[in-house]
Amino acid sequence: MSVFVESVTKIYGSQRALDRVSFTINSGEIVGILGPNGAGKSTMMKIITGFLHPDAGAVLVNGVDIGENSLDIRRHIGYLPENNPLYTDLYVKEYLEYAAGLYSVKSVRSRIKEMIGMTGLEREQHKKIGALSKGYRQRVGIAQALIHDPSVLILDEPTSGLDPTQIVEIRQLIRHISTEKTVMLSTHIMQEVEALCDRIMILNHGKIIATDSTANIKNLAITGNQSILVEFEESINPDKLSEIHGVTGIQPVSDQIFIITGGQDDLRPIIFRYAVANQLTILTLNKQESSLENVFLEITR
Ligand SMILES: Nc1ncnc2c1ncn2[C@@H]1O[C@H](COP(=O)(O)OP(=O)(O)OP(=O)(O)O)[C@@H](O)[C@H]1O
Ligand SMILES: [Mg+2]
Repeated sequence: MSVFVESVTKIYGSQRALDRVSFTINSGEIVGILGPNGAGKSTMMKIITGFLHPDAGAVLVNGVDIGENSLDIRRHIGYLPENNPLYTDLYVKEYLEYAAGLYSVKSVRSRIKEMIGMTGLEREQHKKIGALSKGYRQRVGIAQALIHDPSVLILDEPTSGLDPTQIVEIRQLIRHISTEKTVMLSTHIMQEVEALCDRIMILNHGKIIATDSTANIKNLAITGNQSILVEFEESINPDKLSEIHGVTGIQPVSDQIFIITGGQDDLRPIIFRYAVANQLTILTLNKQESSLENVFLEITR
């Protein structure tokens, strides 16, 4: 199932938490949504799952408008909310039974057993949720999100607060379940998107400021490749810069442009001479220290 978000705006008081956000997640794709605190990631996810209504715009899941058919569509969506709210007084199985009841799941017992197996909860299944460690609570949250076998999975910071071993295991679990589902997940961990996602979307102040395949965004970050950030006073067609000798890629971000080169030679003097020859005024000309973190920091700055 695909998710199609069209010009969604959400306003809190005088603040635009989301400002005309549009994107598509194709069926079977895993998309990672990155962005600083307060960017609007959770708000976007709550809107896709039908928990919040947008002030403008629309969300279509498999071509059907969630605003018009919320109950029906929610059957196809699994959601792990931020901070994974659970009923701590319930036993693991009791809670999963409750979640299964919400979705009128058939053969509840066997489905719960299957979920407990899939999420590695066997040894903890007889405990109360309040007695579980954070990693295992997270597994209960994921089991809850999957109980009705949804086609679309929305995971809001699924590995937040987990120890490194649990992070690896939860990622494996996500990778395993995502082979046949459309997945959108938010995270602050760059390695997580690298490890899991086909595509990255970067949200900042309620707007999407970059979206590309993980491979392309990573390309900006590969050591050995140089990435140079330029900004000209004049507005230019970024593609024109690929005529500079040695340039292997161009990635525009707002008014600035990342220029990528495979070589080791410093390209800045060449870019400078190109600008002079083309009567362009350089406002920024920075050689980037390469890492996915830096790419993120640079474009959300
Ligand atoms: N119920 C609300 N009332 C008022 N403002 C809200 C409400 N919910 C969210 N906001 C505001 O909307 C903006 C986006 O919040 P959101 O939780 O979507 O960000 P986020 O990208 O998920 O951040 P984080 O990385 O911290 O989880 C924030 O400025 C937040 O304060
Ligand atoms: Mg959030």
